[in-house]
Amino acid sequence: MQITDSSVSSEPISTTKEVLLEVIDLHKSYLSGGRPLEILKGVSLSIHRGESIALTGSSGSGKSTLLSLLAGLDRLTKGQIRLRGQATQDWDEDQLARWRREEVGFVFQDFRLIKSFTAFENVSLPLEILGWDGQKARERAEQLLEQLKIRERAEHFPHQLSGGEQQRVAIARAYAHRPLLIFADEPTGNLDPETSQQVLDSFLQLNDEEGTTLIMVTHDMSIAQRMQRHLPLRAGRIDETSSSPSLRV
Ligand SMILES: Nc1ncnc2c1ncn2[C@@H]1O[C@H](COP(=O)(O)OP(=O)(O)OP(=O)(O)O)[C@@H](O)[C@H]1O
Ligand SMILES: [Mg+2]
Repeated sequence: MQITDSSVSSEPISTTKEVLLEVIDLHKSYLSGGRPLEILKGVSLSIHRGESIALTGSSGSGKSTLLSLLAGLDRLTKGQIRLRGQATQDWDEDQLARWRREEVGFVFQDFRLIKSFTAFENVSLPLEILGWDGQKARERAEQLLEQLKIRERAEHFPHQLSGGEQQRVAIARAYAHRPLLIFADEPTGNLDPETSQQVLDSFLQLNDEEGTTLIMVTHDMSIAQRMQRHLPLRAGRIDETSSSPSLRV
């Protein structure tokens, strides 16, 4: 569903909260046939700890590009990304990799579970790879599968799970190491409307319970409206003055 923005302006909520990420005049270009193709043309925004944010915009507007830059998966062309006050563009690959590994969780449209692992292993084994004690990793996986009501599916492999169940396992995996930030790129894009809302319930439940910050790309207005803030990306910029009011505070 294509987004149509309301013309009601919204102030960023939680202005007293800690600013986690600050984006200042961010530009990103790709080379196309030897010429620079400008995708992001001066994006500025502040993200506060604990917020849930919907990022919308037409196909090709640069939503995934912006997520990649915020997650440290790609390098910006111009501007600044400040993480808790620290400019990240000078970080080397090791620092960026540590940030992604320890502070960030990802959820994708196509789930990206490891096919040869059970649901339980998809959540617990990445924790062990991060250095968690085996027992603690198993307890955390159990707790998350329980919270997301898929505990009885723990021993099932991804091909034995529905799309909605697979996505809930992917959400459990993303939150498992208690990251600061979750980036979700169209996580309900492959799901029917009812399952999409259930998957969003899982995100919002964990976000509230764990105080994580959630940035979700979506084309679905009924999803965007349930987030605290809505950032529309248009013509390479974010126009927060045309975004929907916060419906969930
Ligand atoms: N590595 C790359 N090299 C060249 N061009 C790229 C690269 N990555 C993205 N682009 C271009 O940047 C533009 C924005 O792409 P992006 O994937 O961020 O869009 P999007 O808003 O996520 O779209 P969709 O809703 O279809 O997922 C597109 O025109 C795309 O072709
Ligand atoms: Mg995309």
